[in-house]
Amino acid sequence: MTQHDRLLIIDFGSQVTQLIARRLRELNVYCEIHPYNRVDDAFLAAFAPKAVILSGGPDSVTRPGSPRAPDSLWTAGVPVLGICYGQQTMMQQLGGRVESGHGTAEFGRAFVTGGAPLDLLEGWFENGPEQVWMSHGDHVAALAPGFRVYGTSPGAPYAITADPARRFYAVQFHPEVHHTPKGARLYANFVRLAGFTGDWTMRAYRDEAIERIRQQVGPTARVVCGLSGGVDSAVTAVLIHRAIGERLTCVFVDHGLMRLGEADEVVGMFRDAFNIPLIHADEGDLFLTALEGLEDPEAKRKTIGRLFVEVFERHARAIGGVEFLAQGTLYPDVIESVSFSGGPSVTIKSHHNVGGLPEKMGLKLVEPLRELFKDEVRALGRELGLPEAFVGRHPFPGPGLAIRCPGAVTREKLDILRRADAVYIDQIRRHGLYEAIWQAFAAILPMRTVGVMGDGRTYDHALALRAVTSVDGMTADYYPFTHDFLAETATRIINEVRGVNRVFYDVTSKPPGTIELE
Ligand code: XMP
Repeated sequence: MTQHDRLLIIDFGSQVTQLIARRLRELNVYCEIHPYNRVDDAFLAAFAPKAVILSGGPDSVTRPGSPRAPDSLWTAGVPVLGICYGQQTMMQQLGGRVESGHGTAEFGRAFVTGGAPLDLLEGWFENGPEQVWMSHGDHVAALAPGFRVYGTSPGAPYAITADPARRFYAVQFHPEVHHTPKGARLYANFVRLAGFTGDWTMRAYRDEAIERIRQQVGPTARVVCGLSGGVDSAVTAVLIHRAIGERLTCVFVDHGLMRLGEADEVVGMFRDAFNIPLIHADEGDLFLTALEGLEDPEAKRKTIGRLFVEVFERHARAIGGVEFLAQGTLYPDVIESVSFSGGPSVTIKSHHNVGGLPEKMGLKLVEPLRELFKDEVRALGRELGLPEAFVGRHPFPGPGLAIRCPGAVTREKLDILRRADAVYIDQIRRHGLYEAIWQAFAAILPMRTVGVMGDGRTYDHALALRAVTSVDGMTADYYPFTHDFLAETATRIINEVRGVNRVFYDVTSKPPGTIELE
C-alpha cells in the first residue's frame, strides 16, 4: 500500500480507462483502477481516495440493473469527475435524467463552446471552442439539482456540467484520449483542485519499493528471480538486490533461443556489472533436442514452457532456503477488467511463464512492479542505473527465437536467424529508428526459394522482417519504412548472411495479425 494520496478510478468498462490512469501518472498522481462491481461502500471507505473518477462504459444507464457508483460516494466529501457513462450515472443517481439516442448520438470529433468560468476548465476556451472526442449514444436530458452547464456541443447541450460547491464535475466527452488536445489540462486542473501535490515520482517510488521489499521479505529469507533478458525482470532483480543484497539469487534459463550475443550480455551485466549472484543455466541442448521435429506453434510453446519451469525449479531448489519468487508482473497484467460478455477470453497463444511454480514449490511472490506501466518500469530502471541500451530495449518473447522460426526449429535456422536479426537491428539503429519502433525482428520462413548470386543459382532461406508501432502490444501497426531503407536492409542481409537469398517485409497490423509469427 502506498503512503501517497490516492485517486480511485471506478471502471465501467470503457476501452480507454487505462488511459485515464496514464494521464494521472504523468501528473505524478497515484491512482488505481477498480471495476465498478468491486467498489461498494466498504471498499470506498477502506480505500479512502482523495478524489474519484468514474470512467466511461458500454452500457446504458437507462437499462434497469445497469452499473452504478456506490451511494456513499456522494457524501464522501471528495471531488468526483464523471466521464461519458460516468457522467450519466452521476446525473441519474443525483436526481437528473438520461435519455437514449434518438438523433443525438455523437461519435468522434466535436467542438465544445465554453460558458461560465470553472476551476476544472482553467486554460480552456482561451481561443474559442475546444476540440473533444465524443463517443456516446445516451445523453443527459435534465440536470441533477445543484448542477449548471459550463460547455455545450451541437450534439450535447450538457457536454460539461458541474456542481462546484460539492466539487462534482461531469463531462460527456473523453478527456483522456489524444483527440481531446486540452484533456491533459483538464486532468491537471482536477487533481489540483482535489489537493494532490504530484509527489508520486519515480525516485520516491524506488525508495518506497525498496523499503516495502525489505518489510515483505524480512531479515533472513532468500529470494529467487528468473531473468529473461527483458526489462521487467531486470528491473525487478536490481530493485530486490538493492533491498536485500546477496539474499537474492537470479536464475537465467538460457534455452538456446536467445539473440546474437544476448546470453553473454545478460550474464555480463548482472554478474559482473551489478554483482548480483546469478546462476546461468545453459540448457540449449535440452530445449533444442525437445523441439526437434515439432512444427505446431502451441506444441512448441508448451514444450518450452514446461522445460523452462523444470529447469528453473531444479536450480531454485538447489539454492536452498528460498521462500520467495520474484516476478516482473506489471499493472496492466493485474487490472481486473470488466467483462460484459461474461465469458472467458479465447487463448490466442499460450504465454510462457512460471505459472503454477509458486504453489508447487511453496514460494510466496514478490512483485515490486505490480503498480507500474511499461514506460514507468523503464523510468524506474533508469533511476536504478541500468544502462540505457538495456532499459530502452524492445520486448522479447519468453519462447525466444523458436516462435520466429515457424515450423520446425533447427540449429542451422537459428544461426541464420541470429545473424540476420543482428543486421536488421543494426540498420534500424543506424537510421535512428529504434526508439520510434515498439518491436522489430527478423523471422526465418519455412521455405526455400530460388535466386541467382554471381553466376550461380541459389536455393536458400527466405526471411520476413517485422517492425511495429504499439503502445501496449495489444494492438499494433506495421512501421512504414521507406523503400530505400527496405532495399538497403535486404541487400545487406543477403550479402552479409550466408544462407538467405530473399527478404520480405510484413505489412500486417494486429489485429488481424499478431506481432510474433507464432
Ligand atoms: P503477439 O504475438 O501475441 O505478441 O501479438 C504481443 C507481445 O507479447 C510478446 N509475446 C510474449 N511475451 N511470452 C512473453 O513474455 C510469450 O510467450 C510471448 N508471446 C508473445 C510479443 O513479443 C509481443 O511483444
